[in-house]
Amino acid sequence: HRHLLGIEGLTESDIISLLDEADEHIAFNRQVEKKSSALRGRTQINLFFEPSTRTQSSFELAGKRLGADVMNMSVGSSSVKKGETLIDTAVTLNAMRPDVIVVRHNQAGAVHLLARKVDCAVVNAGDGAHEHPTQALLDALTIRRNKGRIAGLTVAICGDILHSRVARSNILLLGTLGARVRLIAPSTLLPAGIDRFGVEIHRDMKEGLDNADIVMMLRLQRERMAGAFIPSTKEYFRYFGLDEEKLSHAKPDALVMHPGPMNRGVEIDTAVADGAQSLIREQVEAGVAVRMAVLEALARNLPNA
Ligand code: CP
Repeated sequence: HRHLLGIEGLTESDIISLLDEADEHIAFNRQVEKKSSALRGRTQINLFFEPSTRTQSSFELAGKRLGADVMNMSVGSSSVKKGETLIDTAVTLNAMRPDVIVVRHNQAGAVHLLARKVDCAVVNAGDGAHEHPTQALLDALTIRRNKGRIAGLTVAICGDILHSRVARSNILLLGTLGARVRLIAPSTLLPAGIDRFGVEIHRDMKEGLDNADIVMMLRLQRERMAGAFIPSTKEYFRYFGLDEEKLSHAKPDALVMHPGPMNRGVEIDTAVADGAQSLIREQVEAGVAVRMAVLEALARNLPNA
């Protein structure tokens, strides 16, 4: 593949080989010396039109650990503020001859559009409510390292599915690798037609969590709710927030995940987020490793590689 624009289009074997390579990068990143020359001479631009803590910093570290020159575009102080379009920005950066551009944008499809205008590899770091492929890959790596497999596991994805690119990429990836996916959400936060992906739908946490191996919580994305439906925090937490009582309905060895950023007391209780069943910090570690694997795989397909 020339780009990584989504989980859609990846085969089971594409996913497994990325996870296998990322596993090796976890061990590499635990060494004192964590610098390779796999991307030496290559230039990576991180172009984030939306805020990010985890994704941008882990793409930066991933590129640097592989020896690339990494430039973080500061969109807030760029000519985007003077009205320059996404395409003009992309074409301008392309003229500087980068090898990889990592893009986050608030519009679904913006990253695909940009990929058609540039000569380098493009990685989708999240586009609107569409896809966030490296998040799904790091989630899969975290699950596989803790459960030894993905096929046959029951994974419950809970909360604001409607606005979640993380949910969409995870539904595609987990389905491809043979997990059973359940979605738990109020009707107002479920996209129409989501059942076509072969998922089970639940509107009650206790029912949906019954016998789950993995409980994946999602942030309530208020910034994408244009006033139509913004639930009260207290009421949302009561019905859909994960606390120890609700978690007790999942398997006793169930593990809890959250892509971050978390809103404690809204979708997840602090006792669960920081509890013995939480994988949240492991997800962050897996994020750097997965992004290294993705950058290396794309670099192998660059001209003159
Ligand atoms: N999970 C995730 O994408 O986090 P950031 O928005 O902090 O990058």
